[in-house]
Amino acid sequence: MKPNRKVDAYQQFVLDCKIFWSTQVYPELQAQYDRTVESAQRQGTAAPSNAREAHALIGDAPLYQFYAWYERHLQRMKYSGRFGLVPHFETEREALEAKLAEADTLENLELDPAFESPRYYTSFDVHQHPKGLAGDTLAGLVYEQASRSTTPLIRRDRDLHYRFTAAVLNRITPKRMADLGCGFGKSTRPFYQEVPELRLTAVDLSAPCLRVAALNAREDQASGVRFLQRDAANTGLAGESFDSVTSTMLLHELPPPYIERLITESYRLLEPGGLVAHLDFLVPGHEPFKRFIHYSHGRRNNEPFMEPLNELDLVDLHKKAGFREVEIVPFEEADGTLAPDYRAWRFPWAMVIARK
Ligand SMILES: C[S@@+](CC[C@H](N)C(=O)[O-])C[C@H]1O[C@@H](n2cnc3c(N)ncnc32)[C@H](O)[C@@H]1O
Repeated sequence: MKPNRKVDAYQQFVLDCKIFWSTQVYPELQAQYDRTVESAQRQGTAAPSNAREAHALIGDAPLYQFYAWYERHLQRMKYSGRFGLVPHFETEREALEAKLAEADTLENLELDPAFESPRYYTSFDVHQHPKGLAGDTLAGLVYEQASRSTTPLIRRDRDLHYRFTAAVLNRITPKRMADLGCGFGKSTRPFYQEVPELRLTAVDLSAPCLRVAALNAREDQASGVRFLQRDAANTGLAGESFDSVTSTMLLHELPPPYIERLITESYRLLEPGGLVAHLDFLVPGHEPFKRFIHYSHGRRNNEPFMEPLNELDLVDLHKKAGFREVEIVPFEEADGTLAPDYRAWRFPWAMVIARK
């Protein structure tokens, strides 16, 4: 894209507001919640024990109303409106589409023109991205740009995915890996960069995202990776053909029956002894305030399966599918974010890891 100072200034403003929201508004809301709980307890009322009760306690407070309004509309402003990313990319549609069409000639990309996405995927604008991740040819490029400010406090855009890659490589030296729900390849790239001899199969539903992933891999001169348009819960790939299966931010995008199918499919894809590692958002324990904030974030961001995912027993589901050594471990997405005195808003990052 050609530089556009107005769009850049507007997007920087939105990002700065998001940082203010994360570092100032959220900690104040948490403090207000704690004070309200203490005061209620002094009057003999029990502290909230779940997200619904936390909502009842603080949901009408002006600070929460502001917090919620601000979160919803900052995300909307990122994508839509005069200087949003969608109208910005629209200004160069023809040139961008010509560039994206090159992807269709690449050997590392396999799209299925007759592919039908599941209904859950097309029935709402995920992340408030107009038409979602597959409803427009430019959606992958828009998503790539948008993802640079999804975690506003991680200055080094690369950090999170490279940390996840390092965590997986600590547990296995992979030779054949599947990356499920790869998007535009942000989760795939660190693996092919860190392990150049790896045979990597990345799947996603979104053709617009896969085209961007394939073009980026060509630019990176990555030879061992292929991008396929497939459903992660039913890939059609050969059983026991991978020593590792990963996903990053996929689970929370799936309705619960799909999550169960994904777990079974991951098990089928792995050879005996293989490792599955999913990075996602799982609130640890029963912290009512954090659950309330996270579940309501899901609603505000058009991610309706965030709450159901957190109410599933993922350890049990993995064991039932045949996995062993199942663990859910908190994930430090940037230095210091797991420290007890860390106050800013963050996603509740966690890894689900298991062996076949
Ligand atoms: C939040 S994005 C994460 C993308 C990438 N893993 C990353 O870390 O940047 C979730 C991705 O899952 C994909 N997705 C959702 N449901 C899927 C399914 N059933 N099969 C394959 N991909 C799916 C979406 O198209 C999207 O690209």
